[in-house]
Amino acid sequence: MQRDCAFKKENSGWPAHSALTHLPPLVPPPHWDNTVTRPYWLLLSLTNIYSPAFCTLMRLAGLHITNPFVQAPMAGITDAPFRTIARQFHSGLIFTEMISAEALCRNNARTMLFAAIEEEHHPVAFQLVGNDPGRVAQAAAIAEGLGADMIDINAACPEKNIVRSGGGGALLKTPDKLASMVREVSRAVDVPVSIKIRLGFSKDDSLELACILEDAGASFISMHGRTVSQRFSGASDWDALARVVKEVKIPVLANGGGLDEERAVELLRYTGAEGVMLGRGTRGRPDLPATAFSLLESGQFDRMGPDTLMKTITRHAELEEQYFGELASMKRMRKHAIWYLKAAGYKFTHREFYKIEKLGELDGLLAGIIFGD
Ligand SMILES: Cc1cc2nc3c(=O)[nH]c(=O)nc-3n(C[C@H](O)[C@H](O)[C@H](O)COP(=O)(O)O)c2cc1C
Repeated sequence: MQRDCAFKKENSGWPAHSALTHLPPLVPPPHWDNTVTRPYWLLLSLTNIYSPAFCTLMRLAGLHITNPFVQAPMAGITDAPFRTIARQFHSGLIFTEMISAEALCRNNARTMLFAAIEEEHHPVAFQLVGNDPGRVAQAAAIAEGLGADMIDINAACPEKNIVRSGGGGALLKTPDKLASMVREVSRAVDVPVSIKIRLGFSKDDSLELACILEDAGASFISMHGRTVSQRFSGASDWDALARVVKEVKIPVLANGGGLDEERAVELLRYTGAEGVMLGRGTRGRPDLPATAFSLLESGQFDRMGPDTLMKTITRHAELEEQYFGELASMKRMRKHAIWYLKAAGYKFTHREFYKIEKLGELDGLLAGIIFGD
């Protein structure tokens, strides 16, 4: 896979996206206790002067992206209720979890629940996983119809069932097919198309892959600094990410290892990427993109206090219930509640959470741990 990136750089430019023509108004989202972002918005609206980070992120597919820290797609986590909660804290880009292109095309009822886009979710990147370029393009058109601000193709997932079917990370073994998927999806929709990849399948092919995808017309690339074979073992290779950032002209979101505010800011600075995608660090921390941005801008950040924590978990649980029904939602919420409390530093027995079947039981348990009631 030899590729001349330098030649490519001279001959590529910013694709014109329809999203550029319908930029949303500059209105602050409803923050609960994010003390830093609010004055930032105020400054923006009063002076119309944008910070370098804001200007840089304006480049991201022509959308108003006001925060370089992006919520990563995470299966079983970044469902519609989580995205509603995340939006209370920040106005940055939020990815759906990976949605099966095949299931979307078949109008699978459960998939439609995960795929739901609410008014407050925007800007939302809709991630599709599949192995057939034509079918993924068909699904992309459906996702656009559902309100997706952009389409993201998953070429990173290392899960056995996905890889075996030829989708996710397996696509990195067939770069030509991957490129044709980007082209077909781009033809099928008017919104920007991005792609999430890893360094390679079993070795570092990141530069070659990035050049091919840039050439194919991807608006930007999100890159996880591990190979598919590595899954989550070893360290995310930030040097490899930095090389790709330097080499390609399209924006890159660096991913892998931004587990807290300090490491998220460090990943942004070290790689020089347009933005950083935050995954595991956002479990129980939907506010992480906001607090990381706060650290970047002001050198400090505020974490949720007990009241906000209680309100956030309860609201998250209510939303899950609206989507998935009482018992199923509580089963989904158990892990979230544990993550929220662990991230906030509470000591408690996990066992109790696995018995929860009703919202009232969750509230009682939470109140006991958070307020000692
Ligand atoms: C539980 C879980 C589910 C994930 N689901 C997806 C997914 O649906 N699509 C995807 O592209 N990546 C998925 N990922 C990978 C993350 O988006 C991210 O690339 C990875 O966690 C590395 O970033 P981090 O070090 O910030 O966690 C998932 C990761 C985890 C832990």
